[in-house]
Amino acid sequence: MVYVPSARYEDAYRRIIDRAGAAASVLLFVSMDVDALCALRILTALFKRDSIGYKIVPVSNYSEIASMNQSLIVQNPQIKSVVFLNCAAQIDIQDFVTLREDLNIMVIDSHRPFNLYNVFWHEQVQCLDDGDVEANMQDLRLAFESIEFGDSSSGEESSDEDENSDDEFSKEEVLEGGAGRKRGSSEMLEGLAKSDRPQQRRRKRRADMDPEEFLREQQRRAERREARAEQQRLIQAYYSQGTYYGQSCAISTLMLAEQLGQPPSLDTVWWAIVGATSQQLLQLIDTNGYTEVVRRMREM
Ligand SMILES: *[C@@H]1O[C@H](CO)[C@@H](O)[C@H](O)[C@H]1NC(C)=O
Ligand SMILES: *[C@@H]1O[C@H](CO)[C@@H](O)[C@H](O)[C@H]1NC(C)=O
Repeated sequence: MVYVPSARYEDAYRRIIDRAGAAASVLLFVSMDVDALCALRILTALFKRDSIGYKIVPVSNYSEIASMNQSLIVQNPQIKSVVFLNCAAQIDIQDFVTLREDLNIMVIDSHRPFNLYNVFWHEQVQCLDDGDVEANMQDLRLAFESIEFGDSSSGEESSDEDENSDDEFSKEEVLEGGAGRKRGSSEMLEGLAKSDRPQQRRRKRRADMDPEEFLREQQRRAERREARAEQQRLIQAYYSQGTYYGQSCAISTLMLAEQLGQPPSLDTVWWAIVGATSQQLLQLIDTNGYTEVVRRMREM
């Protein structure tokens, strides 16, 4: 699991502490907006408290992040964690930053929708969830996992089954293919490479098969295809709902500080209020969303 439920933000922070060394070990990519800057103030206060060295990099677009991949991450092995403030939730981070094995990523971003690879796939990427993933995206998660990993419960489903669905009796093939947890493209290539083979065997088996068994098999196959189409519809619907905003990044950071036992100061609370209010003023969230924030702040 790679989204971090709101009650467990501190876990993501502890991964940063665990990896911190003497040199600056954290790279902070900060979007240039009010909410991100407020979050930055709260987060760096925590880093100072815990003596974690960091380097701040303001960014205004994703090509800037990609261009810093080599100079700041690949050539800097002492960087152990990268934190994104109000950026990166919507991109597949792997496309912009080399995910070295020892690199830990934390994403505190209010932009939605999430890139599903960040929240359900990359073990190294910790996305702080404001409750949306946990409460509303579990069906989506199952659909995503089923498509990416193959559905292990039936043992027959595989992500490349339908693309090659002219191989009618290829359960063994599918089982082989479904076991490896690889990313789409290479998996697809393997599937294609295999697809010349089953022709002969298919014709033979079809002749052997009891007609009723054949029909049942056809029916099962149709059901699996339908289930898979439904999973793809779910994922597509999630991405195509358009851009929206989740919990203010400053509020998430304040909640993190609170979980870490940092008593709220006038300053940190003020930064959180400014961050959240900027979302309201820029009309990124509606009045209901803002009222919800105010309610949560009262509870804190
Ligand atoms: C990204 O931002 C930098 C700095 O503001 C700018 O020079 C560059 O042209 C921008 N790139 C794109 C693709 O917008
Ligand atoms: C990051 O930079 C390294 C070194 O230049 C390069 O090999 C790698 O492909 C880059 N990664 C991404 C995701 O751009």
